[in-house]
Amino acid sequence: MSQLLLEATHITHSFDYTLFTDVNFTLASHQSAAIVGRSGCGKSTLLHIFSTFIEPNKGSITLFGKDLYSLDDNAIEALRRYDIGIIFQFHYLFKGMSAMENIEVASMLSGETIDDDILEKLEIKELMGQRIGDLSGGQQQRVSIARVLSKKPRIIFADEPTGNLDKETAKLVMDVLFEYIQSTDAGLILVTHDEVLAAHCDTSFRLEDKVLHKRA
Ligand SMILES: Nc1ncnc2c1ncn2[C@@H]1O[C@H](COP(=O)(O)OP(=O)(O)OP(=O)(O)O)[C@@H](O)[C@H]1O
Ligand SMILES: [Mg+2]
Repeated sequence: MSQLLLEATHITHSFDYTLFTDVNFTLASHQSAAIVGRSGCGKSTLLHIFSTFIEPNKGSITLFGKDLYSLDDNAIEALRRYDIGIIFQFHYLFKGMSAMENIEVASMLSGETIDDDILEKLEIKELMGQRIGDLSGGQQQRVSIARVLSKKPRIIFADEPTGNLDKETAKLVMDVLFEYIQSTDAGLILVTHDEVLAAHCDTSFRLEDKVLHKRA
């Protein structure tokens, strides 16, 4: 059964100037939503607001039924550790450790284990013993995605996860993410510049002129 994972109501946020006003957004389990928009319009900021990292100037976020920004630090920490999967625009891996060690750190923290299947699908199973510093950028990106999935998140926030990948590898990564939300109760919010990819999502939004426009 589909359940509501995230509900954002009347979100407004400014840094030096107003990025967006009155953003309303929902995401249910098994659902994928794309957010597109010009560079600098505030997509990453919106994703950070949805995912515990920036409290908005106005509005509220309900995540898994809880009012996100009224939670205490421990509860936020637990959400980040167990429930939220974030694929950043720039990935953060421990360079001196092997690919497998990087994934094991995440698994240890969340108490979950990685499915071999996911490593195979991402075509990184053979790379697990190599040091991160010796992998190509795209290989590192796929390791960081495996690391996020290894904790079995209930919601995935992905900020241009395929930005640095060739078409074929990008498809393989997206297939893994779409399959993950089909086979679990998780949902996916995807920031992308790729219109074709956005069209593959269940819903798609454009952030423009400070408004989040729903497109499909
Ligand atoms: N922590 C911050 N402090 C001050 N300004 C910020 C902060 N984070 C983002 N900004 C500003 O907010 C604006 C939107 O940034 P954001 O990273 O959300 O854009 P974006 O839509 O993700 O762009 P891109 O497509 O290039 O990744 C930018 O002008 C940026 O400089
Ligand atoms: Mg961004």
